[in-house]
Amino acid sequence: MPSESLPRYRASMSARNDRDPWPDAWLSEDPLPEDPLPIAAEWLAEAFADGRQPSPHAVALACVDAAGDPTVRMVLVQRIEPSPGAVVFFTNRASRKGVELAGRPRAAAVFHFGPLSRQVRISGPVTETSGAESAAYFATRPIDSQIGAWASQQSEPLESRAALLAEMQRLAAQYGADLANPAPDPALPRPPHWGGYRLHAERVELWHSRPGRVHDRAEWTRRLTPAGGDPGPWTVQRLQP
Ligand SMILES: Cc1cc2nc3c(=O)[nH]c(=O)nc-3n(C[C@H](O)[C@H](O)[C@H](O)COP(=O)(O)O)c2cc1C
Repeated sequence: MPSESLPRYRASMSARNDRDPWPDAWLSEDPLPEDPLPIAAEWLAEAFADGRQPSPHAVALACVDAAGDPTVRMVLVQRIEPSPGAVVFFTNRASRKGVELAGRPRAAAVFHFGPLSRQVRISGPVTETSGAESAAYFATRPIDSQIGAWASQQSEPLESRAALLAEMQRLAAQYGADLANPAPDPALPRPPHWGGYRLHAERVELWHSRPGRVHDRAEWTRRLTPAGGDPGPWTVQRLQP
């Protein structure tokens, strides 16, 4: 980055933080709430209602590969389940992330609600959604996304873009699907490699920007064994910003 652009960047960061348009009294005061998940769900709903951020349900999702190296990519969280506490996303299970999650079923995700000056971190064990749950969500997707899920061997090398588009046309003809029609086709079957994951919240951090960078941070932890089993109670502590 050219050095002359740095001062402008700093100025805009501090202008946003000092404005502090979203006071969160409950995160600044003690005692802290017992359960962070309803708050995370409310923050996501507020980010949608606020309307300034495209795709506020996008998270950076981190896993580890077979060598133990971290990997990260964006995915869309389809819902936060406040109780017992999880986020759900969908993908190709044969993709790089799918292979990594099969090898080590743990992940970390972070939401950034920039216009609301908030961040939510969630990590813990991951389980696959059931076939029925994956199929039900697949049936709601636009037809081109449904065909795309069949056509794309996600994360594999691709010879050319034209080859992928031709494969989409071939599959559309095979399934009698009209790619120009954005409506979902409930009759299109779910590809066997396509499905969802549930990231069960074992550790959650809520972060809210405060003036002077004296941000509020609090971290909730609990034990989850087995993944998806009965969660123990949350323990909460405040963290230095
Ligand atoms: C905002 C955003 C949302 C995305 N949502 C998804 C998603 O929900 N599922 C998915 O498989 N890929 C999604 N992607 C694409 C992924 O970031 C990634 O390129 C793809 O899943 C392959 O990742 P992998 O090779 O690590 O498995 C999204 C990308 C962006 C930028």
